[in-house]
Amino acid sequence: MARHLITSALPYINGIKHLGNMVGSMLPADVYARYLRQRGHDVLYVCATDEHGTPAELAAKEAGLPVAEFCAQQHEAQKAVYDGFHLAFDYFGRSSSPQNVEITQRVARSLHAGGFIEERAIRQVYSLADGRFLPDRYIVGTCPHCGYDKARGDQCENCTRVLDPTDLVDARSAISGSSELEVRETRHLFLLQSKLAHEVEAWIDAVGGEWPTLASSIARKWLTEGLQDRAITRDLEWGVPVPADTWPELAAEGKVFYVWFDAPVEYIGATKEWADHAPAERDWESWWYRAEDVRYTEFMAKDNVPFHTVMFPAIQLGTREPWKKVDYVKAFNWLTYYGGKFSTSQKRGVFTDAALELLPADYWRYFLMAHAPESDDTSFTWELFTATVNKDLADTLGNFVNRVLSFSRKRFGDEVPAGAPAGPAEERLGAEIAELLTEYQEQLDALQFRKAAQALRALWSAGNVYLEEKAPWLEIKTDQDAAALTLRTAMNLIHLYAIVSEPFIPASARAMRDAFALDGDTATWVTPEQARALTAVPAGTPFTVPPVLFAKISEDDLAAYRERFGGAEE
Ligand code: 2FM
Ligand code: ZN
Repeated sequence: MARHLITSALPYINGIKHLGNMVGSMLPADVYARYLRQRGHDVLYVCATDEHGTPAELAAKEAGLPVAEFCAQQHEAQKAVYDGFHLAFDYFGRSSSPQNVEITQRVARSLHAGGFIEERAIRQVYSLADGRFLPDRYIVGTCPHCGYDKARGDQCENCTRVLDPTDLVDARSAISGSSELEVRETRHLFLLQSKLAHEVEAWIDAVGGEWPTLASSIARKWLTEGLQDRAITRDLEWGVPVPADTWPELAAEGKVFYVWFDAPVEYIGATKEWADHAPAERDWESWWYRAEDVRYTEFMAKDNVPFHTVMFPAIQLGTREPWKKVDYVKAFNWLTYYGGKFSTSQKRGVFTDAALELLPADYWRYFLMAHAPESDDTSFTWELFTATVNKDLADTLGNFVNRVLSFSRKRFGDEVPAGAPAGPAEERLGAEIAELLTEYQEQLDALQFRKAAQALRALWSAGNVYLEEKAPWLEIKTDQDAAALTLRTAMNLIHLYAIVSEPFIPASARAMRDAFALDGDTATWVTPEQARALTAVPAGTPFTVPPVLFAKISEDDLAAYRERFGGAEE
């Protein structure tokens, strides 16, 4: 038994996430966590909402709510969707928690003690009307390159050019709209990443060799471009305050830490939130501090890789304390919507709450993982979604389950029939199942989700091939015992599918397992050798026929989805 710490990139608080966010972080982390738990490992999977920063403040303003209230509401809304997706977090926390404030401040103090934080004066835009410094994104104006009149101080959304607030024509405050702006001097804390670059590089040399190329190449690129010192404080009302014991003047000015400083620390913070719910039996430090026996795996989309492979490790190294650093970084490319961007503002693409209104979570979970953007970007299309659901879930798995159970009940009643002892066909089937299960495990162990889904599908297909070959609906005409053997074997396959499909489709797996009234049945993993025998469900076990597991998506449904969500761009 090993100890596995798992985290997925923290979703920003400002709004419900789309399917692309789901497949690039939380869903694969959940599949992996479920698999490891079934195999009997000690797993801790934590995630949280990422609540600080300018986007949160702006979204709250747009919603007309105080930012604390906005975040509390949005946290609950996101949590509800993740429950709907059956994400089995050990804890889903909030980066604004007191625990994260405490640990972020502690980390900052240690960095300071080690000489890795320095106070520097910089020049920044101040709004007289608002009585505050404006972060770059809070300044809007006309883009000098393309003339777009809602360009932000950090970037023009229209032509994507990176801007400096002073580039903007007719610059004004995004808060009040006032154009009474001036450049003033202000002081901020800088993380001296340049002093840590060599250590980060040595660390990546030591551990990064095992990471997927997507993660290691992005990390290396950042390192070769040179690690710059970076401002880690902001003038915002909402954030982790700079600790007054260490920086009294900055604290008095109301400076808070930059969101990317406290967000990764919330992986630790969320673990403490989890532990604080049951301090007698949970020890957060055992997962994070001198935790040499823990294997730590992070899940994220590729844009997050630099922060997780360079900036956060630099912070951890600079504390000169034994914080647990990541062992394996699982990074994903983008899921696109018909080859284009998912876009909230243009209402293109599928958001996680809308997805669950259409169909149960397992349809999405399976589809997304079977097409996970691992080696390249993948395009979501309703056509591909429909084909995958209908073929793999409805035909190959769902139909098999219902056909076998209904037919057996009709001919042999409500208990698994006894019939003849296993023969050569069952022997061959067992050998094939053992082989496919070995392949499936190997892919899951390697975090190759597409290949794992392929192996799972192959396991389901093997059952169909066996059933077609044996054809119990013909066997029964001449040899009842032979038909009963086939059905008993097929029911054992269903029970095996219930166990091994659990990481991908937990609700359907549960329904399949519940079809059999087996005493003390658990979802504990079976080894390929155990699976080979196909005897876990003995003759005489009572069973029921579950309702249809997966409904097919019709041409009409498909047309309606395309219409509602937008299809290929004309
Ligand atoms: O890109 C994002 O969605 C960020 N909110 C991810 C943060 S991950 C972590 F470090 F907190
Ligand atoms: Zn522009």
